[in-house]
This record gives sequence, structure tokens and C-alpha cells, in this order.
Amino acid sequence: MFRYLGRNGIFALALGVMLLAAACGGGSGVAPTRDPALPPHVADASNGERLFKNESCSACHSTGTTRVTGPGLAGIGVTAGARVQELTTDDYLEQSIRDPGAYVVSGFSNIMPNTYRRLPQDDVDDLIAYLRTLE
Ligand code: HEC
Repeated sequence: MFRYLGRNGIFALALGVMLLAAACGGGSGVAPTRDPALPPHVADASNGERLFKNESCSACHSTGTTRVTGPGLAGIGVTAGARVQELTTDDYLEQSIRDPGAYVVSGFSNIMPNTYRRLPQDDVDDLIAYLRTLE
């Protein structure tokens, strides 16, 4: 079939595929960071645990109930679902990571860095999977 498209046809086809990829990559206003041709990411809590240390979350958060700079994250998988009425557990956790100032936990200051908004979606998904394991 491509034989009959000619040069411009192939170009138009490629442009169409690119626009389609851009349109599908949307999600919560975050630039798509993974190849849409890859199979869907399966969230990996053990990678989330690694990121929690490597991204310095652990400098401000204990995984128990101890308050450090930020709240202890024990039980966050349950608490998160009750924080903001219109946000699901996963949506609240993603917002807490990407846009921490959008909801500031009572008794704490808005000092969590907002640099995590640049984390690839796969990393955020892995962090969320890990946070959900904390009891
Ligand atoms: C410089 C300290 C600091 C770092 C680093 C930090 N946080 Fe926070 N975080 C806070 C503070 C303070 C709060 C409470 C204020 C607020 O809600 O923004 C908070 C709130 C949160 C909450 C909401 C907790 C709740 O009870 O609702 C989550 C979830 C969270 N952080 C996860 C993370 C993750 C994951 C990382 C690493 C990617 C991280 N934080 C890095 C200080 C930090």
C-alpha cells in the first residue's frame, strides 16, 4: 500500500502517527516519558522502595509513625484515600509526590520540594505501589 502513497503520503502518515502518539500520551498534564509502543508498566513496589531512598524521600519521611520533617507514612495507603474527597488513593499519592503544595497535611509546613513533578510516570507508579505496602 505504501508504494501508492508517494513521498508526501508517507510524510502525512508519519505525522498522523506522531500526533496520535502525542494525543494518547496525555494523562495528568505530565509529559509522556515512555515509548507508547512498550507494554503497559506493571508497578513494582521493590523499585519504589529503592526510589524512596535514592530520591531522598526517606530523609524527611519515616516508614513508621515517627514524625521527621514530614509525616510518618505508616498506613498511608489507607489515610490517602480519605485526605481529599474527590481524589482516589492513587490520585492523592500522585498529587502528594508531584504537587505537594496542593494539599498540605495539617500540622506540617509546605516544604516538601516540588521537584518530584519531573519523575517519570513509571517511577511515580512504583513509589505509589511501595507507599501502599506501608503498614
Ligand atoms: C524536604 C523534606 C521532604 C522530602 C524530601 C519529601 N517529603 Fe513528602 N512531605 C514532606 C512534608 C513536610 C509533608 C507534609 C506537608 C505536605 O502535605 O505537603 C509531606 C507530605 C507527603 C505525603 C502526604 C502524607 C499524608 O499523610 O498525606 C506523601 C505521600 C509524601 N510526602 C511522599 C513523599 C515521597 C514519596 C517523597 C520522595 C519522592 C517525599 N515525600 C519527599 C516533606 C518531604
